[in-house]
Amino acid sequence: MSQHVLITGGAGFIGSHLADELLAKGYRVRVLDNLAPQVHGEDARRPDYLDPQVELLIGDVCDPAAVRNALRGIDAVYHFASAVGVGQSMYEVVHYTRVNNIGTAVLLEALIEKPVEQLVVASSMSLYGEGLYRNPAGETRIVGERSLEQLKRGEWEWKDTDGSVLQPAPTPESKAPALASVYALSKLDQERLCLMIGRAYGIKTSALRFFNAYGPRQALSNPYTGVLAIFASRLINDSPPRIFEDGWQQRDFVSVYDIARACRLALETPAAAGEVFNIGSGQAYTVRDIAQRVADVMGKEQLAPEITGKYRVGDIRHCYADITKARSVLGYSPQVTLDQGLAELAAWLEGQAAVDRVAQASAELSARGLAL
Ligand SMILES: NC(=O)c1ccc[n+]([C@@H]2O[C@H](COP(=O)([O-])OP(=O)(O)OC[C@H]3O[C@@H](n4cnc5c(N)ncnc54)[C@H](O)[C@@H]3O)[C@@H](O)[C@H]2O)c1
Repeated sequence: MSQHVLITGGAGFIGSHLADELLAKGYRVRVLDNLAPQVHGEDARRPDYLDPQVELLIGDVCDPAAVRNALRGIDAVYHFASAVGVGQSMYEVVHYTRVNNIGTAVLLEALIEKPVEQLVVASSMSLYGEGLYRNPAGETRIVGERSLEQLKRGEWEWKDTDGSVLQPAPTPESKAPALASVYALSKLDQERLCLMIGRAYGIKTSALRFFNAYGPRQALSNPYTGVLAIFASRLINDSPPRIFEDGWQQRDFVSVYDIARACRLALETPAAAGEVFNIGSGQAYTVRDIAQRVADVMGKEQLAPEITGKYRVGDIRHCYADITKARSVLGYSPQVTLDQGLAELAAWLEGQAAVDRVAQASAELSARGLAL
């Protein structure tokens, strides 16, 4: 009999793609999702993109009865339900702690009552804080958090003790977490809670640290999600992308299809149990480059990005994934190139009407002294 899988938060961006991936491989898929208004809009109903074969249970992961009900007959769980937004987590502290930390605790108590075979939890690169760096001699350097004074002076890059600029290096799973937001703290908490309870109760558990995911179905009207969606939503409204700092900061953009494959591999690989994996593209791109590429594929290359020189407290300078472990243990290898992925994103965007709430989001951060 085919495995019956529950995805919490499976009506969202990554979860719905994972549902497609699993259905294509013969799994049965159930989703528990409360269709959170920030992601799905007010008066939300079942998203059109969710495959009709997915059984959708509308409910809150913090509600023990809803979770127990969702676990009936389930063999494996992907825990994706989360409030997702670094900046917003710094003032909606109760909401992020409730959904992410308490929601995970509620799920785990239900699993203690009725264990499943396997559990995969969505974690995040945000828990690294800054990525790994090297000095000009090639020596590894771990950096902390840039001071407010440094940001005010516009000194964006990290420097070694002798004043030389440090270069970003691929970040492995072994880099110690450096938590700079309530969101990052909650992702580490989700990861550790799942691994701890999984080990104690014999549930084969793995945690996947996603880097910056992109692809169709991104919640464009939610200004707190990834930078790519934010740029795209500005461009759809004929406004140029606005870039913090100088735009030379680097990130790892990974196609949602590659993430979905990695999630399936984590379920199908016995050696994944008890382990944490980076899931990224393994490539670093500057935010300037990304803004220009998004504008190009949307045919809006005349809308040159605005480099604002502004900053957000808690933003890191550079981070991209070392995916060696996922390659060797899971057999993961990214298949979608950035250009292919952006072209598909652009085609999907043609049909989307995103409300540009970026200005409002920036104002909310500024009002709290979290951004300049
Ligand atoms: N998108 C990224 O780049 C990225 C990067 C790193 C980690 N992640 C993690 O991956 C997971 C999926 O992210 P996503 O990008 O698909 O986000 P998303 O916002 O599109 O999906 C999250 C889903 O969770 C649901 N949800 C929120 N609160 C809930 C609750 N209380 N009960 C039940 N469902 C609830 C939402 O309605 C939504 O459908 C999250 O755990 C996120 O932290 C995402």
